[in-house]
Amino acid sequence: MEKIVALCKRRGFIFQSSEIYGGLNGAWDYGPLGVELKRNLKDYWWRCMTQLRDDIVGFDGSILMNRAVWQASGHEATFSDPMVDCKTCKARFRADQLESSVCGQKPSKSPATCGGELTEPRTFNLMFKTYVGPVQDDSAITYLRPETAQAMFVQFKNVLEVSRKKLPFGIAQIGKAFRNEINPRNFTFRSREFEQMEVEFFVKPDTGFEWLDKWLEERLTWYEAIGIPRGKIHVLTVPDADRAFYSKGTYDLEYEFPFGVQELEGIAYRTDYDLKQHQEHSGKPLEYFDEESKTKYIPHVVEPSAGVDRTILAVLCEAYAEETVKDEADKEETRVVLRFVPRLAPVKAGIFPLLKNKPELVTRAREVQKLLRPLMKVAYDEAGSIGKRYRRIDEEGTPFGITIDFETHEGAKEASTSAAGTPISAGQKETVTLRHRDSMKQERIAIADLPAYLLAKIA
Ligand code: GAP
Repeated sequence: MEKIVALCKRRGFIFQSSEIYGGLNGAWDYGPLGVELKRNLKDYWWRCMTQLRDDIVGFDGSILMNRAVWQASGHEATFSDPMVDCKTCKARFRADQLESSVCGQKPSKSPATCGGELTEPRTFNLMFKTYVGPVQDDSAITYLRPETAQAMFVQFKNVLEVSRKKLPFGIAQIGKAFRNEINPRNFTFRSREFEQMEVEFFVKPDTGFEWLDKWLEERLTWYEAIGIPRGKIHVLTVPDADRAFYSKGTYDLEYEFPFGVQELEGIAYRTDYDLKQHQEHSGKPLEYFDEESKTKYIPHVVEPSAGVDRTILAVLCEAYAEETVKDEADKEETRVVLRFVPRLAPVKAGIFPLLKNKPELVTRAREVQKLLRPLMKVAYDEAGSIGKRYRRIDEEGTPFGITIDFETHEGAKEASTSAAGTPISAGQKETVTLRHRDSMKQERIAIADLPAYLLAKIA
């Protein structure tokens, strides 16, 4: 984990928030490569949910909502964790995670075993309270949303009407959520500010369990497509005692992180709990009229809820590899490589003139950059030996390296001189070296073929 955290900082994936002021516990910034990785992940989820199927529509709700939403949903009364204080070091801990917590004064011990006396557990609400408007009294209280889900429930009727969908149908949303976690930990895994990708999938009441299983299969396939094999995901059928009170059945998808097997996503059968609560508290009907059976009912909900940041962390852990390879002088060295699947890679191809002091190579490399950049994110680099440039893109997870060398130049000359007599254009004749990140194999490819070849690989 330490190596991954160091790489994330060194290469600009993830930085500590407010670092120059000592940081802010539980908050993280995504740097130039991290933001591209995150964007690719969210875009792919969005495409799978809202573009590649007919039964889900997209949505973007506000983070601040009427306080009544959180009263109706039960969050104001019950969205809490048990907390204890250490009377000796004054640190606070989650009472249900003492064994895996670290004592503030004796880091080799857990709070339960360090000798410090703990208070009785008491509940601590995880929502961040804030005030809307200039007067800070009780009537102005609301909260930063602790999940994106509630906006989709309270807008269920509006979305249903405008999208003219019939059940089963879903609403998908990606957005920030905030929880004042007692002990943020494990890098970005448990943060106070994070993003969720959630679907609220509305179904007929007697089909809830059937859809729960369908969603499990759907989500496992999705993780495979982003480079997390099924074998690394543990499916936990959450026991009755551990399920959220609104759920009749929940699967947790857990990933083998370096710090243990931990939750990536929850798929919960939330029954009609949320819509019922909002109907009761708002006084507005949230029923669905089923034209087939000519009956009215409150739909049941199956909710696959994934964390963006946790998925990014899992993708980074899964992609990270160290290998012993030979350098340019045939000496052994360690190669660090991030084996992202191409669709997620922050940068798809590095473009390199073999030598930076050869204008003919630099000019052509810039032209290749111009050819590819409207289609995908590419990065031009002329600094250092070609071996060092390859190592750099390996660490950044860039799947392809394109080197413009003397053979390219000769190809260009040959094509342009024969162009008068033959229909072969310079672009068709000119080739570059295409280097593959994972195998490190190199092949020659015509510049004209690069766009189609690379687009097929990253699609
Ligand atoms: N709407 C249901 C819901 O929010 P959850 O299990 O509390 O369910 C869903 O959260 C997902 O959100 C989790 O599986 C996890 O990936 C992510 N998540 C929850 N709390 C988080 C935290 N403090 N930091 C990072 N991700 C978190």
